[in-house]
Amino acid sequence: MAYLHAVHPGSRVLADEDIDRINFLLKVLNADTPQYSREHIGTMVDSTILVLTRQISDDDGKPLIQPPGGVIVGMATLSRLPTLRGIKGYVEDMVVDPAHRGRGLGRGLMQTVMQLARFYGYKRVDLTSGTHRVEANKLYQAFGFVQHDTNVYRYTF
Ligand SMILES: CC(C)(COP(=O)(O)OP(=O)(O)OC[C@H]1O[C@@H](n2cnc3c(N)ncnc32)[C@H](O)[C@@H]1OP(=O)(O)O)[C@@H](O)C(=O)NCCC(=O)NCCS
Repeated sequence: MAYLHAVHPGSRVLADEDIDRINFLLKVLNADTPQYSREHIGTMVDSTILVLTRQISDDDGKPLIQPPGGVIVGMATLSRLPTLRGIKGYVEDMVVDPAHRGRGLGRGLMQTVMQLARFYGYKRVDLTSGTHRVEANKLYQAFGFVQHDTNVYRYTF
């Protein structure tokens, strides 16, 4: 079985199967997530950097041709947030399909995200992670993220 971590080039090349897999992974992240339309996901994909992990071959090493480019089994987004002190990055939607966990895919996604953040010259990268997300908290700490002493506020429209 082989995987590929890559930046997704934009909504125009999202296959219908990709939309289904993104909706599936969003539900893995949060069971309350609604089913999003192709238009919604396309707009969001074009407003951020979407990093995807695709399974590109089966157990026997045979290339997967459906959907084109392989099945999405992990994803993360890196958004650009300009501030007066410089541009920072914000990571969201980091998730690996439960059937593919523990194989280094989360690490691969984070490596790609951090390479991008460096490439774009971001001054820092922020993210939040619930305390119940034990694996994710370990992953972020392993990448050098340090817990910041600040309150996280949210206003939901
Ligand atoms: C967090 C997540 C993306 C990790 O994906 P993964 O592909 O299984 O992770 P990897 O195999 O690449 O492991 C990378 C690191 O994650 C941490 N980790 C992964 N699985 C873990 C586990 N079961 N227990 C503790 N730490 C774990 C470790 O630091 C690990 O590094 P190590 O192998 O050197 O110990 C995945 O568990 C997931 O999707 N969780 C649910 C969604 C979620 O919580 N997303 C984060 C939202 S903020």
